[in-house]
Amino acid sequence: MLHIARAKLSPYGDRAEVLQADVLTCDIPACDLVLSSFMFHHVPPDRLSETLSRIAGALTPGGCLILLDIMQVGPRWAERIGAQSRRLYRQHVAAAISAGTVTQAEIDTRWAFKQKMKQEGKDVEYPHSAEDILNSMCEAGFDEFGLVWRQFGSTIVTGFVPDKRE
Ligand SMILES: C[S@@+](CC[C@H](N)C(=O)[O-])C[C@H]1O[C@@H](n2cnc3c(N)ncnc32)[C@H](O)[C@@H]1O
Repeated sequence: MLHIARAKLSPYGDRAEVLQADVLTCDIPACDLVLSSFMFHHVPPDRLSETLSRIAGALTPGGCLILLDIMQVGPRWAERIGAQSRRLYRQHVAAAISAGTVTQAEIDTRWAFKQKMKQEGKDVEYPHSAEDILNSMCEAGFDEFGLVWRQFGSTIVTGFVPDKRE
């Protein structure tokens, strides 16, 4: 992923830098926008508020967090939505294989790697609910925040830090 990001950002020269860091421990540089894509389900529940606080602290006044991730849905729909997500994923993979973007062997290798990571306790997933995330954003000092989009379990929440800090 890092080499793909570097290749895509190369036209921007030194305006863009690609770094690999652990969100639980790294210093987050000051910025106007934080975009997180399908990463927060790896943040343990007891680290949510603190991680979001460090993000809020790094954002310049009025700055924005856009957080996209899989989030729990209520028990009434969980089974049906899970089945729909799996069906769409299978369709997506079949289309990618047909288009020659990926091979079945590569998909199998990725799944085997993920399974191995899970067995070694290295790919732990925590199923946060949107409410958990929004509560933690509130505790973290986000001023305006809300759920702006959801399809199946995939959910986008955004939050802004106050425009003027005391
Ligand atoms: C499901 S993948 C999502 C990848 C990509 N962001 C996307 O949207 O397709 C989860 C990503 O979270 C990253 N991740 C897991 N724990 C992390 C942590 N503590 N700090 C930073 N990244 C982490 C993994 O390295 C992996 O790239």
